[in-house]
Amino acid sequence: MIIDTHAHISDIKFDADREAVLQRASDAGVGKIFEIACEVPVWDKALELSKRDNIYVSFGIHPHEAAKAVDGDFEKLEKLLDEKKVIAVGEIGLDYHYDFSPRHVQREIFLKQLDIAIKHKKPVIIHCRSAYEELLTIFKNCRGQLPKGVIHCFSGTPEEAKQFIEMGFLLGIDGPVTFPKSDKLRAVVAETDISKLLAETDCPYLAPQAYRGKRNEPAYVAEVIKEIAAIKKISFDEAAEITTDNAIKLFTAINN
Ligand code: NI
Repeated sequence: MIIDTHAHISDIKFDADREAVLQRASDAGVGKIFEIACEVPVWDKALELSKRDNIYVSFGIHPHEAAKAVDGDFEKLEKLLDEKKVIAVGEIGLDYHYDFSPRHVQREIFLKQLDIAIKHKKPVIIHCRSAYEELLTIFKNCRGQLPKGVIHCFSGTPEEAKQFIEMGFLLGIDGPVTFPKSDKLRAVVAETDISKLLAETDCPYLAPQAYRGKRNEPAYVAEVIKEIAAIKKISFDEAAEITTDNAIKLFTAINN
């Protein structure tokens, strides 16, 4: 069984053919999909999706959305975390590449949700672009109560990777690992123990090389696993089994 540990199936880009997309995922051996609902307006839609057998859900407010957050959103988030199939809080974090929300607001909204995750004993799914140094500092200040989690779509250096792993985090690997120019990311995968890697699509974004420029979908997580297997010089099945196991161990709510 393989898992797409990071999908945005509630995105409007899937509205026209969601059933066909889910069928293709299942045909490709994707046994579970983790739906990441990180914009308040999609929370209810994602909760509805999570009522299906093989779909689990994570709720949070993305750094892009930070400036839109209101107090009531956090109350609603806390309520949603009591739902049975909620695996994590996320994706939450900092995005200093796009800066769609002012940085001080991103920080405030991120810290608030980090506290909520700690309170509810949930792992976190972290979105971070061009802000790894600050993220590491925030995590160092949480020592002792830092939740477990994944650095989604990791794009940092091998040195940064090591630091996050020492803090108990896993690294999410996405379609870009298959791009011809991604030698730096492939080096990170090569140097990181496979027990610390998760396979993600981030669909509808970041389609792997074989589908580049097209809409990404959960079935294509196989391309990411294929690349991890090639870098680690192991079989596809072995890479699939290990990365699936990593996800099951981190997101314990799927065992309930
Ligand atoms: Ni995402």
